[in-house]
Parts: sequence; C-alpha cells; structure tokens
Amino acid sequence: MIRVLFVCLGNICRSPSADAIFRKKLDDHPWLSKRVEVDSAGTAAWHVGKPPDPRSVRVGAERGYDLTPLRARQAVTADFEAFDYILAMDQSNLDNLKDIAPTHYSGHLSLFLDFAGQCGAEVPDPYYGEGDSGFHEVVDMIEAASDGLIKQLEVRLS
Ligand code: 4NP
Repeated sequence: MIRVLFVCLGNICRSPSADAIFRKKLDDHPWLSKRVEVDSAGTAAWHVGKPPDPRSVRVGAERGYDLTPLRARQAVTADFEAFDYILAMDQSNLDNLKDIAPTHYSGHLSLFLDFAGQCGAEVPDPYYGEGDSGFHEVVDMIEAASDGLIKQLEVRLS
C-alpha cells in the first residue's frame, strides 16, 4: 500500500480539495486505487474537526468532486511514519512540515505542484480571495498535479 498525504495550512481549502480530486481520479484507475490510500491535513490547528470551507465544497461539487465527508485535522510527526508521500501546497507549508519531520524520513516530501512539472510552484491560498476564481484556480492546479502523481505511482507500482 502507498499512502499519500496532502497538506496545506488550514486543511479546509486546498488539501481537502486535493484529497477529493485525487481520490476521484483514482476511481478511474481501479488497479491503482486498490493500492493507494489518501488523506489530508493542515499545519495549523485552527479548524480541526471542521468541514471544508463552503466555497471549496461548492466549487469542488461544480467540478465533480465531493468534499463533504472530509474533516480537518492537524499534521503530526507520526504522519511521517504512516505516509510515503507528503505533499505540501506551498513553500510555507513545506517549511512547517520540515520543522516536525523526523531527521531520517525516507519517504517523499515535496511541493505537490512538482508533479505538474512545475518545480517550486505553489498552490496559492484562496481563503482571503474575492469570489470563486481562486478556488477554481486551485482545482485546475490540483487536477494537473494529480495526473502527474498518478502517472508516477503507476510506474512505481507496476
Ligand atoms: P487552506 O486555506 O490552507 O487551503 O485550508 C486556509 C484556510 C484557513 C486559513 C488560512 C488558509 N485561516 O487563516 O484560517
């Protein structure tokens, strides 16, 4: 089993979107979906236990993704024992993860958009933006990176 954890700041906008989008894309790859588990978390504890932001839920639904079962949790050091891929939405999330990572983490810790072929690129935080456009942009970026990650996992597991 390969375990993938998506991480943002609050775990109510970007990483639950990644969780739902990647899960849905796995549905189209039945062989892979039996071998991959998905979760998401936030580096901050502010929204622990809460459902995703209503704007992420709405835009996700418009784009075919169901975020409603998800609840926020905080990323913890034990996640580095459980997850093979820990994928951060922006550089600040990645820095915060590195602060809590065990020194000898042998899995893959990086920015998620590396898998969209855009090394160093970030999924911008849509939380304080006006309207839905930032949330659609988040979905676009996550869809592209999810396709890249699926290709890599297919190679790794074949
Ligand atoms: P996320 O977005 O990291 O994509 O979940 C945010 C959610 C909440 C806050 C910031 C970013 N906040 O400041 O509460």
